[in-house]
Amino acid sequence: MSGVSSLTAFAQQQLDDMRAGGTLKSFQFLSSPQDRVVQTRGRDDLYIFSSNNYLGLANDPRVIEAGHEGLRKYGAGTGSVRFICGTFEIHDELEAELASLVGQEAALSYVACWNANEGVIPTLMEAPDAIITDALNHASLIDAIRLSKARRRIYKHNDMADLEAALEETKDARHRLVITDGVFSMEGTVANLPGIVALCEKYDAQLMVDDSHGTGVCGETGRGTAELFNLEHMVDILTSTLGKALGGAAGGFVAASKPIIDLLNQKSRPQIFSNSLPPTVASSALQAVRILKEEPERVKRLHHLCQYAKALFKSAGYDVADHPTAIIPIILGETRTAIEASQRLLERNIFVTGFGFPVVPEGTARLRIQVSAAHREEDFQYLLKNLKELVPPGA
Ligand SMILES: Cc1ncc(COP(=O)(O)O)c(C=O)c1O
Repeated sequence: MSGVSSLTAFAQQQLDDMRAGGTLKSFQFLSSPQDRVVQTRGRDDLYIFSSNNYLGLANDPRVIEAGHEGLRKYGAGTGSVRFICGTFEIHDELEAELASLVGQEAALSYVACWNANEGVIPTLMEAPDAIITDALNHASLIDAIRLSKARRRIYKHNDMADLEAALEETKDARHRLVITDGVFSMEGTVANLPGIVALCEKYDAQLMVDDSHGTGVCGETGRGTAELFNLEHMVDILTSTLGKALGGAAGGFVAASKPIIDLLNQKSRPQIFSNSLPPTVASSALQAVRILKEEPERVKRLHHLCQYAKALFKSAGYDVADHPTAIIPIILGETRTAIEASQRLLERNIFVTGFGFPVVPEGTARLRIQVSAAHREEDFQYLLKNLKELVPPGA
């Protein structure tokens, strides 16, 4: 018991420190689906600019009905892992649709992209191998890499000279895997895929892209970052989430060659020791992928709104970069400043999350604005009006 109480005291101390440092996160309790406006417990409705519901599909009636249908047809779930209790047909259909979406031979779903990354990397990369990873890669990649016994070399964010140096240094490795986010979630930048692909070819390395913020967003038809550069067939392994543009529920997947997918199905630990995606979620995600394929105008609308919002903030004097993504960071400096700005916007019915250290480097705390196809142009005008009053450009 004394161990438990000392851990409780430890937790309390950490929370107190975070509160004193102004870095304690606040949580909003929502009582409506994700959309351009959300209802919250104890507050007026909020305009939301911090959702990954990029295509506005989280509240699409067809996606919701597909979830109901999945529940009616398959019940709540498998009750165990897929190889023990059976794989529902809906998983098989979803995986075929995902593989075709991203132009890979096969795909395998996981309960989250986090698990997908932890499934792929330690299964494929062993002690004689080397992993070469971008310094700003997502936390799930960082943790997944820690689970692998392979050598690790971090290269500076999107720095092709440093990537080449890493490839030179690891020439003796059995296999080399270069790992990058497609879209970097805190910066809104896109991986330099043409540069990375050229170096992978030169040094005979393989390429893995986590396109969680690129799927449904980047490229003319929303196939992701590789489509943006016409390099779909140059990515060896792609992971992505079903919890953002593709319906927003939860879930992730790996898409790659059939032997890689078959091996992950046999050996990857989150797959063989953990239940599969609930069929409700698989069914909604499948519907979302079909809508993405059948309604490219959704992606066009998202692209238009991204350009509109960036031009609006830029013309008001904010330092906004022109990356082809739906993420617009407004850098404010100190963590406390970003969190306070987010709280003051909440008082004006605007929900934009502030991010500080350690999620982003010290001194670069920010508000992260995310665009959705569910938004309207006037939503950004309202946001800008309030932003200018609370955090004027250059302040
Ligand atoms: C690049 C990247 N990978 C993985 C994830 C985790 O996705 P999931 O929620 O499906 O675990 C995220 C979520 O923010 C992400 O941004």
